[in-house]
Amino acid sequence: MSIHARRVIKKADIIVGYNRYLDLIKKLISDKESVAFGMREEIKRARYAIDQATTGKIVCIVSSGDPGVYGMAAAVYEALDQEAGKITVEVVPGIPAMCSCASLLGAPISHDCAIISLSDLLTDKNLIKRRVSLAAQGDFVIILYNPKSNKRKDLFNDIARILMQCKSPDTPVGIVKNAYRKNQEIKITILNNILKYDMINMFTTIIIGNSKTFVKNGVMITPRGYL
Ligand SMILES: C[S@@+](CC[C@H](N)C(=O)[O-])C[C@H]1O[C@@H](n2cnc3c(N)ncnc32)[C@H](O)[C@@H]1O
Repeated sequence: MSIHARRVIKKADIIVGYNRYLDLIKKLISDKESVAFGMREEIKRARYAIDQATTGKIVCIVSSGDPGVYGMAAAVYEALDQEAGKITVEVVPGIPAMCSCASLLGAPISHDCAIISLSDLLTDKNLIKRRVSLAAQGDFVIILYNPKSNKRKDLFNDIARILMQCKSPDTPVGIVKNAYRKNQEIKITILNNILKYDMINMFTTIIIGNSKTFVKNGVMITPRGYL
């Protein structure tokens, strides 16, 4: 969380968010009114927050990481109708998982990268596969969000196969689960072994290196080229 985000939360009258995220900041918001919503209630959440804001309250919608990266920022702007111009919306930057996870692995995204979510709830599976394939062909460092869920495991196997077609099997891969949270797990491995890890789920981010990425002294490095 950024210092600015903490300050904004402290100033708010109401905190709105996905129940799991509110739980993560429960100490910070113990003196606040908070309203929790379930998964897949993003637009309902945004509408509720907008309605509350029109009554003059300061309303804070929380996302994990940065709200503009697969977070609630777009949903709030999309849900704004006749209230636009009557209330002020501020997107408060946070620290995206790609950055927090990268910091725990070393310096794996010091060059061009592509972030791709494997969630197929709102995006067609074939489009996801195509994006992964093209990013791999372009030798981008690839960051995979939402790699596997309880119901969706097969797509990850397909993605691993696609990556293997375009990248060397010994490409370094960093896997981080629950970065900077309780039960944090960090693993550095190679692409060939990517299907062997039980730790991969919805709380995990995976960073696959480019053709120049290497491991030195236990950390993953994608060189910028300074040497
Ligand atoms: C809906 S996206 C939210 C992304 C978030 N807004 C961001 O800026 O990174 C959820 C995905 O982000 C990643 N993620 C979020 N927090 C994480 C953490 N603490 N450790 C590892 N991955 C995390 C996981 O891939 C998870 O499936």
